[in-house]
Amino acid sequence: MVQWYSNAHDFSTAQSGAGNVYNVNLMPKRIQRHVTPEDKLMPVSRRAFVAGLAATPLLTSVPAAAQAATPAISADRFDPWLEIDSAALRKNVAVVSGLANKRPILAVIKNNAYGLGLTTVASVLDPMPQIKGFAVVKAEAAIALRDAGIRKPVLLMGLFSDRDGEELLRRDVQLSICTDDSASRIVRAAKKAEQPAAAHIYLDTGMSRMGIPYFRALPALRELRGLEIKIEGTFTGFTEASDFDREQLRRFIEITDAARASGVELGSLHAASSHAVFNYADSHLDQVRPGIALFGAYPSDFESERSIATLTPAMRLKARVVRVEQLRAGDSVSYGRNYIAEKSTWIATIPVGHTDGMPRQAVNGAHVVVNGTPYPVIGAVSASHTIIEVGDEPSVNIGDVATLLGPDHPAIHPNQLAASTGTSVYDALMHLNPTLPKVLV
Ligand SMILES: Cc1ncc(COP(=O)(O)O)c(C=O)c1O
Repeated sequence: MVQWYSNAHDFSTAQSGAGNVYNVNLMPKRIQRHVTPEDKLMPVSRRAFVAGLAATPLLTSVPAAAQAATPAISADRFDPWLEIDSAALRKNVAVVSGLANKRPILAVIKNNAYGLGLTTVASVLDPMPQIKGFAVVKAEAAIALRDAGIRKPVLLMGLFSDRDGEELLRRDVQLSICTDDSASRIVRAAKKAEQPAAAHIYLDTGMSRMGIPYFRALPALRELRGLEIKIEGTFTGFTEASDFDREQLRRFIEITDAARASGVELGSLHAASSHAVFNYADSHLDQVRPGIALFGAYPSDFESERSIATLTPAMRLKARVVRVEQLRAGDSVSYGRNYIAEKSTWIATIPVGHTDGMPRQAVNGAHVVVNGTPYPVIGAVSASHTIIEVGDEPSVNIGDVATLLGPDHPAIHPNQLAASTGTSVYDALMHLNPTLPKVLV
């Protein structure tokens, strides 16, 4: 099965100015609607990329605006695209579920599902019984999930404006009690929206990033007893420094035990992101909350974590070779002339650059696979181009598919790309340009 997705579909957005400004209030009204169970699930568009593939039932609905934005994608496309491997996503869910001893998974799909496409990923995970729901950090992502017909619980782990709070409750999004005034914001929003409110309590046990500090949380938790907010869960986030994670868990258990002893309803307790799913079984609690592992990348220690369980990268960053040329000894490559040919050699240009998500540091040792062979990146990665050294023979041709990231060769595994470029694997995925067209295979 192959489905094409547009950029806008994956992050129902409005853009303005130089940067990407995602503003729910700028969305076309058509997008800001309730999704009811009766809504039909419809594809944005679909195209047989590989001749002979049969059409199969479609998984997701998409806004009309996204359909209009769908680029023309053809089987001989040179420009980059992102293939999302639904079987790999499902396999990773099964692996995480096994590691967590079948506890429910609250799938973190923030930041455009780590670059893979918010609604593309959600459409694959939503029907899976292991997936209890989804967590995001931005209001517009939560709304985009509902617009795409995602039915499972959606948790917004961030703070929300009054206006967004009301809209989010109308769309049955669970909110976070993450500041001293969050509960009153939720009550206000529920009144305005004339909707019941559900929320998770976010406790800060040492990350000092978001949440109510654990050491002064008890009075605030007690105040929740009289409010019309259904508490579905209570959570914290680890620093992923192993000794301190244990202390954080101790703090979390202490405060949640004390709150429950005071009659405070806390719902399901959760703390474990991918690192803790792999490395800290005691923290799995009632449910786990991983992100990156679902997409097939190891969260911290590639070597040790892959000996615990095998994940499969669920993305392929691809494009077609646009130029093949022979360098003479002394010829240079790209800006800054970082590469000077010592002898005659063949090079090829791939139309994927750092604006697409290929790290600039790829020249430090990354590879691109063409026809099954990994070739080193040379020169400098520019905004829209990456150059590879092919060797003594012109063994690649214009139009050959180049894969820059994916499961098909160890040299382009996301953790390997991160390692060989000295970047974080989170950056390697989350910096994939959200406008890359997606194809779900
Ligand atoms: C609060 C919270 N929980 C869970 C996650 C998932 O983390 P990971 O992708 O490492 O599994 C994140 C992501 O950073 C997060 O911010």
